[in-house]
Amino acid sequence: MQTHLRGRDVIDFQEWTRDELDTVLDVAFALKRDRALGQPHPYLRDKVLAMLFFFASTRTRASFEAGMAQLGGHAQFIESRSTQIAHGDTAKEIGEILGRYNDGIAIRNVDWGIGNRYIRDVAAASRTPVLNMQCDLFHPHQALADLMTILERLGDPRGRTATISWACAKTYSKPLSVPQSLIMLLPRFGMNVRLVHPPEFGLMPEMLEQARENARLGRASFEVLDDFDAGIRGTDVVYAKSWGAVLTTDDEAEEARLVEKYGSWIADERRIATASDDAIYMHPLPAERGVEVTDGVIDGPRSVVYDQAENRLHGQKAVMALTMG
Ligand code: CP
Repeated sequence: MQTHLRGRDVIDFQEWTRDELDTVLDVAFALKRDRALGQPHPYLRDKVLAMLFFFASTRTRASFEAGMAQLGGHAQFIESRSTQIAHGDTAKEIGEILGRYNDGIAIRNVDWGIGNRYIRDVAAASRTPVLNMQCDLFHPHQALADLMTILERLGDPRGRTATISWACAKTYSKPLSVPQSLIMLLPRFGMNVRLVHPPEFGLMPEMLEQARENARLGRASFEVLDDFDAGIRGTDVVYAKSWGAVLTTDDEAEEARLVEKYGSWIADERRIATASDDAIYMHPLPAERGVEVTDGVIDGPRSVVYDQAENRLHGQKAVMALTMG
């Protein structure tokens, strides 16, 4: 068990060793158990987390804020548009200044080509840990909660198969961050990963390369398919969500046309029935009901979406207690 994690940033868990990840999981499940027992665990008494948002959030904001309160500290909510960030505060200034006021800085910035760079620039200037609440490339705390949920539902994940698939959604162009974090994380725990998407909705080649290498090291497989039905058949985890065609086009109208072209990519009862007998359906939420997934699937017996959302709280509390203590 690696215990020396104080001061560490979480930009993506690819930058953490498997031993360090095992420590996070161990602490996360212990904190979940403590909460179930009503056992107080104020490991961050008097500590403050700055939560800086450049984009909307329900679960991420609520779970980080609740988590800090349960750990005996406080979380301050800061929005870019209602602060002087909108008028020119730089990433370096934010890192220097919020790092002096706080014991950690958590940031969500999903702007394509900007978010990850911004978070790394803040981290370079901050004297306290920086936690990625989702950028254009990664969503590490979602992937952590998803891994916890898989461990709870399936037990030993080695040799099991997770399908990380694109699904149709029309409201806005979602980042590549969730699938990219997942295809790299799950093979490290021995899971075979099928990445499934229409040709125009690819992920970044360097992430695929890393996923392949992680699969090799984890004695698992990694394959890329473009057939939604084939991707789901016989799998143990159906994780079907939308992401943008940012590697194909930067034209919104063209992306909307592509989304329409693949309007049949919905996680529905017929498809889920072809997965393994104990397969689970996963989605990080928010989901587009009737477009991305049917009500029958997301509200059905295989769905674990509320466990995923709950595990955001426990996983993040572990990360905060270990890095900000
Ligand atoms: N899954 C997730 O990150 O949810 P929010 O966008 O509501 O934070």
